[in-house]
Amino acid sequence: MEISIKSGSPEKQRGACVVVGVFDHRKPSLAAELLDQAANGYLADILRRGDMDGKQGTSLLLHNVPGLPCERVLLVGLGKEREFRDKPYLDAVRSAIKALSNIGVSEAILYLTEIPVKKRDLAWNVEQAVLVASDALYRFDQMKSKPEETKKNLRKLVLGVQRRGDLAQGEAAAARGQAIAAGIKLAKDLGNLPGNVCTPSYLADQAKALAKEFSLGVEVMERAEIEKLGMGSFLSVAKGSDEPPRFIVLNYKGGEKKQKPVVLIGKGITFDSGGISLKPGADMDEMKYDMCGAASVLGALRAAAELKLPLNVTGLIATCENMPNGRANKPGDVVTSMSGQTIEILNTDAEGRLILCDALTYAEKLDPACVVDIATLTGACVIALGHVATGLLANDDGLARELLHAGEVAADRCWQLPLWDDYQEQLKSNFADMANIGGRPGGTITAACFLSKFAGKYDWAHLDIAGTAWKSGKEKGGTGRPVALLVHFLAKRAEAG
Ligand code: BES
Ligand code: MN
Ligand code: ZN
Repeated sequence: MEISIKSGSPEKQRGACVVVGVFDHRKPSLAAELLDQAANGYLADILRRGDMDGKQGTSLLLHNVPGLPCERVLLVGLGKEREFRDKPYLDAVRSAIKALSNIGVSEAILYLTEIPVKKRDLAWNVEQAVLVASDALYRFDQMKSKPEETKKNLRKLVLGVQRRGDLAQGEAAAARGQAIAAGIKLAKDLGNLPGNVCTPSYLADQAKALAKEFSLGVEVMERAEIEKLGMGSFLSVAKGSDEPPRFIVLNYKGGEKKQKPVVLIGKGITFDSGGISLKPGADMDEMKYDMCGAASVLGALRAAAELKLPLNVTGLIATCENMPNGRANKPGDVVTSMSGQTIEILNTDAEGRLILCDALTYAEKLDPACVVDIATLTGACVIALGHVATGLLANDDGLARELLHAGEVAADRCWQLPLWDDYQEQLKSNFADMANIGGRPGGTITAACFLSKFAGKYDWAHLDIAGTAWKSGKEKGGTGRPVALLVHFLAKRAEAG
């Protein structure tokens, strides 16, 4: 879909469809008011009759409105004006896009982005409209033998601004939105691909393709090289599968040569069966999403490169399958990590931390400005925060604040949990330096405590995306989270220099 910004008054727009909002109690937005004046009270009449009452989630399509040069007008309910915050705005844009694609209009101009949203500005409205539109129109049909029959696609979406002076700001925000949307789409596609297609070597090929397209540095290490690095913990997970592991290093150099890189680490378990501590069968298919951390690293790097952020970013991806073959990890096995610390594997299903710990050790060599790992790490995080907020744990409060803020701005929020020493006790082992699980209480926290033992002398944060990286049920699919959060975090860092 092509997205652009255009200045001009709504009542003057020709073309297929003009979209304007109506608040609760039949109160027209400014743009709707202008249409009504040009149409000689035609819209006011409709509102008075109650055919459109402005309630959230409603919409009404009008044809050949007298006095207007456009073919159609779509009225979208906005809900209460006093409560017009993030969610009502995002919902209104989504229902507009859904309505447009249900009708099968191919071109539309949207006058929702100018409506003031509490605590937000035009740039935010525009960026979010782009993200919502691309999310609402996303389809994954790569694996279908023929694409599903759908109505004509919305080909062209124009975001209307009435003031010419807002054009430049709007355009910059739309460009940022589109770069983030492309990163999100990449992350969704990779997440949605089945485990028999999206293997560790497939992820490595994708990283190489991305590197080629955006002139990134890329290095893909195979088993022998990973062995040479001494990543005994990572390899212990990989050896339970016939599918060979990969360790991927991607470099985006948008900053000065000597500037320390921000390092992003992604968990890339392309399928998590649990291993010998096998998962129950129900919904096990969803464990193809266990590489969404890795996918979000690729998506964020793609966006950073497209936006040419003046910043150095290194992406590290540890990727393998967690399977139960004859060589697989067994409960009670003890492995030696790259750091030299030994780990007693009490549950082979706590494999994410076993691959991430070696990546965290590797990161130390890069002399990072900071390290953020992203992982679908614990079911406990889904229990704690549901599908709304990503879990955040960090050894540095400044870094945590940056990520909280980035999530807030990106409408891709995370919420901090404590990483207190008090929890470390749960990881004690009688047979090794530590156990890989800490029991059921505080499962997300003890997982992060485990990782913290490998985070070197750098500022480090961990994002647990188990609840936010995909949706279950009828709308099953990857969400592309937390690409938007990561890009905003990187952009802000780039700004700060
Ligand atoms: N990939 C899972 C975490 C997960 C579970 C994500 C459900 C999304 C939904 C991870 O590897 C895992 O299996 N974690 C275990 C850890 C436990 C054995 C300590 C879990 O959360 O059950
Ligand atoms: Mn697991
Ligand atoms: Zn896992």
